[in-house]
Amino acid sequence: MFEPMKNCITILTGAGISAESGLGTFRDEGGLWAQQRIEDVATPEGFARNPELVQGFYNARRAQAVEAVPNAAHEALARLEAEYDGEVLIVTQNVDGLHEKAGSRNVLHMHGALNGALCAACEHRWEAPLVMHVADSCPNCAAQATRPDIVWFGEMPYGMEQIDEALQRSTLFASIGTSGNVYPAAGFVAEARRLGCATIELNLEPSEGFSLFDEARHGAATQTVPAWVAKLLKP
Ligand code: OAD
Repeated sequence: MFEPMKNCITILTGAGISAESGLGTFRDEGGLWAQQRIEDVATPEGFARNPELVQGFYNARRAQAVEAVPNAAHEALARLEAEYDGEVLIVTQNVDGLHEKAGSRNVLHMHGALNGALCAACEHRWEAPLVMHVADSCPNCAAQATRPDIVWFGEMPYGMEQIDEALQRSTLFASIGTSGNVYPAAGFVAEARRLGCATIELNLEPSEGFSLFDEARHGAATQTVPAWVAKLLKP
């Protein structure tokens, strides 16, 4: 039977890839979830209870992200996409936009993005202003139900079907800068293995799912990612 050619690299990224751009991770010591409770700022219930707190949390993160500059790891992945003889898809859990700032084009934001606004009433999406207010109304339906276009706990991540299709045509799955605590992203390595992909983890330290990867490179992303990309692009 004819097998479709596999020539895709799927790369999952998490907060660790942006740490050296000055953006805090979630679960490292002093990380975002040590400062704020997930239930308060990253769930629909938290938003319903205290929308001011939630908008304030994401306004502050948006302000930081706008100022942040991509680092050598983001830049190496953009180079990989430009120079690799095949498809490179970045599936990011990050909402900071640094992959695009570095020049990556094929980026799927499975947890949404800080530069997006969403109407909870009609699901219209538009570019978020730098500062969102609870009283803002939707440009489509005028409801005062605007929220950051961020996927919260209890909500369905974006692009799951597209990710599944990409894994099916991938030869390699890489996971960069993620602790492997949050599903469904944490389950991609098992699915990639099942589909016959080679798997590699690049993280500061072994992640939760570390033992499932064929290969691991532990250290700062700005060191490990450019070296890994250089090896992949070597003629
Ligand atoms: P975490 O904070 O859970 O994990 C970050 C990982 O990056 C850790 O394993 C660190 O060891 C690693 N790390 C830190 N600095 C690094 C560096 N310089 N180089 C390489 N690795 C480094 O963040 P995520 O795994 O991205 O979701 O978290 C996943 C999701 O949980 C987020 O998208 C967010 C959060 O709750 C939502 O808000 C829905």
